[in-house]
Amino acid sequence: MDLDMKTLCEPEGIDVNTQPFILIIFGGGGDLSQKKLIPALYNLFKLDKLNNDSYILSYGRRERTQAEYRTLVKTSIERNFEKEYIHIEDAFLEKFSYIDGDSEKLGGVEKINKYICKFKDIKKYQIIFYLATPPNLAKNILNLIQKLKLCDKPFKKKIVMEKPFGIDTVSAINLNKDLNKIFKEEEIYRIDHYLGKETVQNILFFRFGNSIFEPLWNRSFIDHIQITVAEDIGIGSRGNFYEKAGVLKDIIQNHMMQLIALVAMEPPTNFEADCIRDEKVKIFKSISSMSKEYMEENLVLGQYGPGEINGENIVGYQDEKNVSKDSNMGTFFSGKFHIDNWRWAGIPFYVRAGKRLNKKLTEIVVTFKIPPLKLFGNTCRDILANELVFSIQPEEKISISINMKYPGVENYPHPVEMNFNYSKLDTVFLTAYERLLVDCIKGDLTLFSRQDGIEQMWKVLDPIVDYFNKADFKFPNYSPGTWGPIKSDILLKKDGRKWRI
Ligand code: BG6
Repeated sequence: MDLDMKTLCEPEGIDVNTQPFILIIFGGGGDLSQKKLIPALYNLFKLDKLNNDSYILSYGRRERTQAEYRTLVKTSIERNFEKEYIHIEDAFLEKFSYIDGDSEKLGGVEKINKYICKFKDIKKYQIIFYLATPPNLAKNILNLIQKLKLCDKPFKKKIVMEKPFGIDTVSAINLNKDLNKIFKEEEIYRIDHYLGKETVQNILFFRFGNSIFEPLWNRSFIDHIQITVAEDIGIGSRGNFYEKAGVLKDIIQNHMMQLIALVAMEPPTNFEADCIRDEKVKIFKSISSMSKEYMEENLVLGQYGPGEINGENIVGYQDEKNVSKDSNMGTFFSGKFHIDNWRWAGIPFYVRAGKRLNKKLTEIVVTFKIPPLKLFGNTCRDILANELVFSIQPEEKISISINMKYPGVENYPHPVEMNFNYSKLDTVFLTAYERLLVDCIKGDLTLFSRQDGIEQMWKVLDPIVDYFNKADFKFPNYSPGTWGPIKSDILLKKDGRKWRI
């Protein structure tokens, strides 16, 4: 059963501040720039959402000519869009310039200053620094930014920091201190691209825009919550990064924590950035701390070995490029979390995330309690629990399963699904990075993390990372194309439950 969308008021379209900007991307030749940022900028340009008077300066370690960098821009667009959609205008390519330098040696300061000085009326631009780099480079890059002469001038500046923000609580606090030497809190955009996804934003709308769900949204009516962030891809060319991050710092500390907060938080006073962020922080603070014994029982770490997916040979994690042959870095995690507050006491949040799993799937499943009595006499089937599923990827969809009577003289319960599928909407969608870039240009911080939130997320993660650092593993412990180590299934089975997929 599909739900159509009736528009009650005409959406106003995407409102973009037309202020011109200069975007300075550190890590401009890296994986993130090529896969996400450049395609996002291209699409915004095509949709006419970029101010014509805006420019992009990419900064990278590798020596490249302007022409070589523009070829990289072209290639990254060609890899990310259907052929029919691609018609790269010179006006777009000409926005890009490239500067090489070693941020450790403050290389490039002069070149960046020179680039900026070319703009006659520099005051009319907002300057957005974007750190598309691993956390260990942040300090050097901030030093470099501080040395730029342009930062003394009274014009608008902002900084976008990619996740993970720091590598633990202490480093996140220190990084923030460094940032505060140059930027005010309202100029700092700590990005988590999951918050830019439409279905993720819809969680709050769904909860607080409908009066039928919120009364049920608590420990009296909900049995448990499942959150899955599964990928079928491996780590690609990101061995260096992944060996330091693993699944815990790459996904659980940020994307997973944000999803937990959106499902669990109390209604904010209003929809302003700080009110929403206040409520999220309360959730991070309420996540139960875990003893060593609890972690042994309820947390699972995994690493993929070699195998096959759809007839394709897959190398094991330890044989990936730039990965140590005896690495004990986790590429899979699952665990049972609890939130110690009035609403959620006693309700498990089962979470799992990993690479080289059975398929790409990001979803949140809210499983309600089954009815208290089995009223339908001699039925041969059990009544299934109602499930509300927020599908975030690959499909953007919200569905509810309900039990109906199957036509006939017997009382056969028949579960059916009511679906709302975003793909049926005839409207322009922005991808997560497009949306977040627009918000940053407009100056809307709602979908970005605040420092206290980041610190609280690390406080949940630090003991878990520490526990696994000391644990003894026999890795690899799962094959590509599966749902991770068998222990992950046992985790739910012990509680009489199972993963939805
Ligand atoms: C990034 C992680 O934040 O998210 C990657 O660093 C991961 O490892 C990616 O592949 C997944 O994003 P998405 O939007 O494809 O789910």
